[in-house]
Amino acid sequence: MCGIIGYSGEKEAVPILLNGLKNLEYRGYDSCGVSVLYENKLHTKKDLLKVREFGKTHSFDSVPGKKGIGHTRWATHGGAKKENAHPHLSGDGKISVVHNGIIENFLEQKRFLEGKGFVFQSETDSEVIPKMIEYQMQKGLDFTRAVKQSFGLLEGQYAVVALHEDGKMVALRKEAPLVVGVGEADGEYFVSSDVTGFLDHSKNAIFLEENDMVVIDDGFSIFNLDKNRFVDRPVTGLDWSAEEAKKGNFEHFYLKEVFEQARVLEDLSKKDMGTILEVAVEIAKAKKVYVVACGTASYGCMHGVYLFSKIAGVHVDFCVASEFHHFFKFLDSESMIFAVSQSGETADTLSAIRIAKSKGAKVVSVTNVVGSSLARESDKVILQGAGPEMAVNSTKAYTSQLAIFVLLAYAVDGRIDEGIEKLRDVPRQISYLTSENARGFVNGLAEKLKDQEHLFLIGRGLQYPTALEAAHKIKEVSYIHTEAFAAGELKHGANALITDGMPYIVFVSEETEKATMNNAMEVKSRGAFLIGVGPKNNDVFDFFIKVPEAGVFNPVVQIIPMQIVAYQLALLRGCDPDFPRNLAKSVTVR
Ligand code: G6P
Repeated sequence: MCGIIGYSGEKEAVPILLNGLKNLEYRGYDSCGVSVLYENKLHTKKDLLKVREFGKTHSFDSVPGKKGIGHTRWATHGGAKKENAHPHLSGDGKISVVHNGIIENFLEQKRFLEGKGFVFQSETDSEVIPKMIEYQMQKGLDFTRAVKQSFGLLEGQYAVVALHEDGKMVALRKEAPLVVGVGEADGEYFVSSDVTGFLDHSKNAIFLEENDMVVIDDGFSIFNLDKNRFVDRPVTGLDWSAEEAKKGNFEHFYLKEVFEQARVLEDLSKKDMGTILEVAVEIAKAKKVYVVACGTASYGCMHGVYLFSKIAGVHVDFCVASEFHHFFKFLDSESMIFAVSQSGETADTLSAIRIAKSKGAKVVSVTNVVGSSLARESDKVILQGAGPEMAVNSTKAYTSQLAIFVLLAYAVDGRIDEGIEKLRDVPRQISYLTSENARGFVNGLAEKLKDQEHLFLIGRGLQYPTALEAAHKIKEVSYIHTEAFAAGELKHGANALITDGMPYIVFVSEETEKATMNNAMEVKSRGAFLIGVGPKNNDVFDFFIKVPEAGVFNPVVQIIPMQIVAYQLALLRGCDPDFPRNLAKSVTVR
């Protein structure tokens, strides 16, 4: 949620900042802006534009400074307006700040500062930061101390980079992600919301800890505000390549990532299973296990509940992370919270594990991002190894989470080799489902659905969470209203919605065919247009997408055509599949 970047080195800052912002844009894209330091003055431009247009519209040619900060925004406090875009400046224009997060007591602090004569230009909470720093400097503190003092007064969650026109840059994190990139040249540093912001320039990262404050001037230091002393943080070599975070020959990240799924699952099948086996032992030992996640990852978790039950006869509870606060009383030191998050930075998921930790529960996680907050705060981490996922909509990270759940369930049952064996077949099936022919056929369905306002999806067993995720995917990118139901539940309410020609997507497998087809017929007899997804066609279907029967991997193979139909619907309806309106990939606010 909001992407922030800072650069300090010997190269021209603006191209580096703009490139970083482009890579961070999936975090928010309502507006963007840059401040660059040149000849002891800050030069700031911001606009209600995406980064590419911003770069074309605003020229920084006359200010080839070597230090700067940038921001791409997902609006929280204050609408998507130019004046609310970052960076925000102090009243005297000597301090520029970019911020990701929320300053919870900003109103109180804003009133206080207004009382001291400060005039605010925006509706944002963020603008109190440069003004407060300036106020602290007026009281005689130097820039670094003023930043420190300000964040003693400003409450909330934040990742912040502040730049003073004297050349000093200070960055700070509290409950929001911030990573330092260490450049090849001496004294070259990047500060970014995540590594993709600087991956083109550096593969050496320092993952900051809570309340770390980085000071970059002639030197580089990290001061931890809790410990009240300077600290050393290790430099981690990154194994993501800059190329992986680029679109390559694809028009959109979304489609590229759909294609990458075969490779990701193949890699997973060859991976060392040590951590999965260790986690399986912990799951078997725990008295209660709660799986938590948000968005697409939460549908992965729902599959996990079915898979643990089916494969290992083990019950785990599921809760969307944002609701977990209402359940934590059940936890104790013999419980486990199992959190799943592609980014490892989703605020609700982090908050859930923190609560569980406070009750003594063990924290295990599945995440795609090395060094993420979730990875660092967990007792054990299963790394997905799916490579950078840039589209806001999760595709390859989701299917890799599904596969990890299958492997874990088999591991809990002492049969991991069986799980691996089954996984080995899946990449070939994905390659078939993403082939030109298969895509062409699925695109035909998108043509039929493109003018619909409503779409319903149904399934039983593993096909129920698949229906939920397919509905989620289609609504996120095409803005068609979708709803998914457990097929058996239709007759308890949703059947009232059926009108002539209303499209229903029906997910079927060998296991669930009989019961699901009864429900499909009920819907059909009331006028619905039926689209079947499964291994076997049926006369009742008006349109049928054949997918191979893959047993416990049905959720993987069945979601592939749905990812494709969602993509095609987005294109046909003029929506941007990489940047759905009002959404962001990494939701770091609760
Ligand atoms: C956001 C994204 C979703 C994603 C969810 C959870 O809402 O738009 O695509 O599934 O966050 O993200 P996570 O990184 O925790 O898996």
